[in-house]
Amino acid sequence: MILLDGKKTAADIKEEIALEVSALKDNGKKTPHLAAIIVGNNGASITYVNAKVKACERVGFKSTLIRLNEDTTEEELLNEIGILNIDNDIDGFIVQLPLPSHIDEQKILMAVDPNKDVDGFHPTNVGKMALNLPTFISATPYGILELLERYEVETSGKHVVVLGRSHIVGSPMSILLAQKRKVGNATVTMCHSRTKNLKEITLQADIIVAAIGIPEFLKADMVKDHVTVIDVGITRVADTSKKSGYRLLGDVAFDEVSKKSDFITPVPSGVGPMTIAMLLKNTLLACERAHN
Ligand code: GUN
Repeated sequence: MILLDGKKTAADIKEEIALEVSALKDNGKKTPHLAAIIVGNNGASITYVNAKVKACERVGFKSTLIRLNEDTTEEELLNEIGILNIDNDIDGFIVQLPLPSHIDEQKILMAVDPNKDVDGFHPTNVGKMALNLPTFISATPYGILELLERYEVETSGKHVVVLGRSHIVGSPMSILLAQKRKVGNATVTMCHSRTKNLKEITLQADIIVAAIGIPEFLKADMVKDHVTVIDVGITRVADTSKKSGYRLLGDVAFDEVSKKSDFITPVPSGVGPMTIAMLLKNTLLACERAHN
């Protein structure tokens, strides 16, 4: 079993980005600048956004964090987005999800300038991704592609089973892995809560991407030997023995599934850190596209 070490791979990628940023600065070019908007007080979201901002500092980017109250109106949020859209110093920005229920998420995502949409959530960018045109690939699927590539996990001709059909992970992951691309050319089955005979399907998988948000859902009796497992789940489960009061659990029963796996991501330190590294990569790309 080989551990797909997202923490180390993300550190490698961030080091590569830091070198590029330093070269940009040496050549008098613009420093990449990422902004993030967060609305409300969701603990997990605040942790993620803070990690994104901190990662910007580490690679030499400029960063701006905009924190808005839980009761911010849709109009006020649209106004903030409008300001970032026309600010020439901002290369890319994200609106952290989920948003409070009184705000229409789709309306917000559609207001972001697609050229600054480093999350790749705008319908224009989702469409380009689906057509395999140059765009911003969303950080989580992009991070998974990068992990598979760097560990030289073969995907061509393999049967990939994706668990989950979310707009952020399951759907784009299914599309990307089926495409004609370096990490792709797979036969993909996308499963979801209405799928019948799930175990029969997962038992046929060479590669499983689990993105359903149910802790330890995938058990050893659901996978075949020599499987590759990508665990996207990160559910906070109460744990009084931890200082934080919780521990993180993936969608995979790691201890038992890892025994049958050729490659597997841990939780934490698997897919999570990769998403931040790929967001930085998209921001660097946005900066280069806008200024070179
Ligand atoms: N919430 C969970 N994942 C993401 C992400 O990749 N981007 C944003 N903006 N919000 C998220």
